[in-house]
Amino acid sequence: MSQKINISTIFLFFLSFHFANGQLNYYYYYASCPNLEMIVKYGVWAAMRNDTRVAASLLRLHFHDCFVNGCEGSVLLDDTETFKGEKNAFPNRNSVRGYEVIDNIKADVERVCPWTVSCVDILALAAREAVALSGGPNWPIALGRRDGLTANLKAANTNLPSPFESLAVIAAKFAAVGLDLRDVVALSGAHTIGLAQCFTFKHRLFDFRGTGQPDPKLDSSLASSLKTACPNVDNSNTNLNSLDMVTTYMFDNAYYRNLVNNAGLLESDQALMSDPRTASMVNDYSMYPYLFYRDFSTSMVKLGNIGVITGLNGEVRKKCGEMNHY
Ligand code: HEM
Ligand SMILES: *[C@@H]1O[C@H](CO)[C@@H](O)[C@H](O)[C@H]1NC(C)=O
Repeated sequence: MSQKINISTIFLFFLSFHFANGQLNYYYYYASCPNLEMIVKYGVWAAMRNDTRVAASLLRLHFHDCFVNGCEGSVLLDDTETFKGEKNAFPNRNSVRGYEVIDNIKADVERVCPWTVSCVDILALAAREAVALSGGPNWPIALGRRDGLTANLKAANTNLPSPFESLAVIAAKFAAVGLDLRDVVALSGAHTIGLAQCFTFKHRLFDFRGTGQPDPKLDSSLASSLKTACPNVDNSNTNLNSLDMVTTYMFDNAYYRNLVNNAGLLESDQALMSDPRTASMVNDYSMYPYLFYRDFSTSMVKLGNIGVITGLNGEVRKKCGEMNHY
């Protein structure tokens, strides 16, 4: 790969040093790791070629990182005898995946730019490539996030939204990290890709809130096919189902069309239709895919900037699963 050297290249090269200790910026690794974005893109592509679902998993991993003490790679840390990270928090355990993809990309990056690129920046870039390679939008990512020196199991258990919570509670959790109701609706569109285990929605199928009937807000033909996929026995709890039955691995606006048709999988997804403010956004996104793409991109930029650590704070981890010990 050759790059034409001209005045602006030289300017950006020096600009990248100027910014090195400041805030996030687009030229952070311009001098120190010019091929970073290509390496991340290749790593995500190679992982998706083996396992299409991993795109969804990477997007969710980034979300679960940023919602707990900000985007600082805490979700990536492994437990040790003396340190309890977030991997075993209820929303993460046996659910969040994609860690090895980040570890592999990090190893590739270390080979060409050692001790330079943080794990959290790699995760933010990987989530974007995952969406783009699934047919979705792209967004600019300012870089220079530093890896954190802590993790917060308790916050992972309490700050992450649960599919059993009301829209009001979920909106409050988003508001706590500076995201508004439009962000809730736009980011929920991430459920246009990936899978969910039966236990996350099974209560809607057989005896919804003691009525002996399925959730009335669940399309009845979808309910009966889900009953087959998730029979009313405990050992079906971990069976997997598409969050978007129409185009499971395509990042499109089918998620919103499903909601309009009472065919959202999670109760918390379908609840977006129960409040007139969120329902009107769902309707708009169901009709105008590019409006969804625009708003999703805007909200992803906000998500990726939550509570970042910059400058000389934090560190650049050598391995994403453990903190450095000098
Ligand atoms: C609004 C509140 C949200 C709730 C209640 C929620 C809940 C869930 C649940 C229960 C699952 C299935 C997990 C499992 O069965 O193991 C899931 C999967 C997923 N979530 Fe969310 N989520 C929310 C927001 C988000 C956001 C903001 C994003 C990303 C921007 C996201 C991305 C995903 C993706 C891509 C999957 C599929 C993962 C895979 O297949 O590996 N979710 N979510
Ligand atoms: C391919 O994907 C599967 C999950 O579907 C995973 O267990 C396996 O480790 C992956 N292989 C490689 C080489 O990434």
